Amino acid sequence: MLIKTKSDVLSSEITDRAVFEARREFIKSATVLSAGLMMPDLGQAEPGKYKEVPIGPYSATLPVTAREDVAGYTNYYEFSTNKQDSTALAKGLKTSPWNVEISGEVEKPGVYQLEDILKDNPLQERIYRFRCVEAWSMVVPWIGFPLGEMLKRFKPTSKARFVEFTTLFNPDVMVGQRSSVLAWPYVEGLRMDEAMHPLALMVTGMYGDELPNQNGAPLRLIVPWKYGFKSIKAIVKIRFSETMPETAWYKSAPSEYGFYANVNPEVPHPRWSQSRERVLGSSIFTPKRTTEKFNGYGEQVASLYSGMDLSKYF
Ligand code: MTE
Repeated sequence: MLIKTKSDVLSSEITDRAVFEARREFIKSATVLSAGLMMPDLGQAEPGKYKEVPIGPYSATLPVTAREDVAGYTNYYEFSTNKQDSTALAKGLKTSPWNVEISGEVEKPGVYQLEDILKDNPLQERIYRFRCVEAWSMVVPWIGFPLGEMLKRFKPTSKARFVEFTTLFNPDVMVGQRSSVLAWPYVEGLRMDEAMHPLALMVTGMYGDELPNQNGAPLRLIVPWKYGFKSIKAIVKIRFSETMPETAWYKSAPSEYGFYANVNPEVPHPRWSQSRERVLGSSIFTPKRTTEKFNGYGEQVASLYSGMDLSKYF
């Protein structure tokens, strides 16, 4: 769990801890009493169907950003570079049935139905801070399962050093793919040890419900210690490789978007500082807050990068 010291947090941001703990205790005891009943029926898409999912470890104790701010202001270049237009246009994407192709350095390659992947991976709620490179942050209750748990089931071989994710390519619906604003399809990647870290999450829902299309349905990544662009949406391919994947942002602007993309106020983007951030939904009069290294998850993830020069490997 991410615990912040008082000095790190604006007083307006401190959650009523008693309320938070009470909710957690309630969910814990409900899990014990009704183990088995807690697993959502993934075959039926009811609104609010994920409400009973237990809270996983590492959740932030910061107040959650309003759902409408997260669902109404999205970055989804496959549809548009305009954050409101992408939200509206993404609603036209058909997200079921959905297959995910597993390939590369792995013992169990194949094309898997998302439903089958979900059956094998119990869902958890994780309240994570998430920061986009454009200097705004939000705290979102994502619902998903640890990425590493899922990857293990496909049995990566000892040669697998990296894992690459690819978004659907369908310019008929994803009209932004008709322009060359990015190198399509959208590709992202992680080093295997990053991917196996328990904070990395495969997400299928948020705010107790299914993931809205504009936020990456039906399957997206969340890597809370990295800039938002690593958190790839609408994943259709996962490939294990010996070599570092070439990501879409790296291909488009290699001097601006490195492979690692760890949130780091000490390494400015070539065109702007990354040392301060606006909390999404806050008024323009609210002072920006200081960005924390690894987005505040340094205690959990800094050891992944020990000995690395993070200004070189940005
Ligand atoms: N994934 C795809 N396929 N296409 C995108 O344009 N944008 C990225 C990331 N994942 C993007 C994507 C960026 S830049 C950010 S900041 C986050 O998604 C935004 O996630 P959100 O819209 O759910 O807040």
